[in-house]
Amino acid sequence: MKPSFEWVRVKAVERLADKTYLLGYERPDSARSAAPGQFCMISPPEGKSSFFLPRPFSYFRTDGRARVDILFRTFGKATRLMASLRPGERIGEFGPLGNSFTMPGRAEHAILLGGGIGLPPMAMLAGRLAGAGVARIDLIYGELEGARVVKLAATLPENVRLHVATEDGVVGHRGRVTEIFAPMFAKCDRPPAVYACGPNPMMAAVASMITPEAVEFYQASCEQYMACGRGICQGCVIPVWNGDETVYMRCCTEGPVFNGFEVAWTHV
Ligand SMILES: Cc1cc2nc3c(=O)[nH]c(=O)nc-3n(C[C@H](O)[C@H](O)[C@H](O)COP(=O)(O)OP(=O)(O)OC[C@H]3O[C@@H](n4cnc5c(N)ncnc54)[C@H](O)[C@@H]3O)c2cc1C
Ligand code: FES
Repeated sequence: MKPSFEWVRVKAVERLADKTYLLGYERPDSARSAAPGQFCMISPPEGKSSFFLPRPFSYFRTDGRARVDILFRTFGKATRLMASLRPGERIGEFGPLGNSFTMPGRAEHAILLGGGIGLPPMAMLAGRLAGAGVARIDLIYGELEGARVVKLAATLPENVRLHVATEDGVVGHRGRVTEIFAPMFAKCDRPPAVYACGPNPMMAAVASMITPEAVEFYQASCEQYMACGRGICQGCVIPVWNGDETVYMRCCTEGPVFNGFEVAWTHV
């Protein structure tokens, strides 16, 4: 669907974990067409436009009819204002934007890694993979602190196996998502489809642990800072290998989902 702008009414803002909120609103066009990996630009409520420029957020959940949920973490002005929104207030949504994840073909096993606020597109993708009948889906979700862990288990389809890692060890495995991924990948008897979204070092680490022959593909969603979200400002570029050279690609239009083997992680 072609992206478009619409003012939408906030239905709810709910605190799910430390600094982490769920923003719900209704926008049938996005709810029907947004695919996992796509994102939207959220504008401030009318009358508060001096607070911030539109900011990018991945779709976390849609009901396929009208409801859209965005899972976000507070960092600065925009996200703090979003956390204080009340039901009935109007915000702007421009979307759906960007490309989306590829569904696996021959792979019967998908491994998804979500680091911190890289979780939303992974959770949405897990739901779609389950709906598409992928036999085994492992979602590995990591946070620095247990206090930030979003309780996901009840919201995921039954056949999605959730593995949580926290660096403070308060919830799940003490350590990083890659420490869960490594032994899981070693035990795969067929090449899995691998997807990741999170801090660049996490996605780079995954690329260094696998080879193109050992996976169906590795797709990484790159969340570079964005200003326009529509391919004009060049503010969101990421280096991608083209032979021995790197070329710059825009995360907002050519991405945010890239071949994780092609991103020049050492140059990001
Ligand atoms: C495609 C895409 C999808 C995203 N999806 C989500 C999502 O689902 N949930 C969510 O909470 N956030 C998501 N983000 C990040 C979100 O856009 C930023 O957190 C938000 O713009 C911060 O705005 P702010 O005014 O609150 O903070 P700012 O004042 O703009 O920034 C506060 C601090 O955060 C840093 N920062 C801001 N944005 C980024 C970024 N993209 N990467 C690294 N550091 C950043 C700034 O450098 C600064 O240090 C996404 C970003 C992109 C590009
Ligand atoms: S955010 Fe402006 S070109 Fe991508």
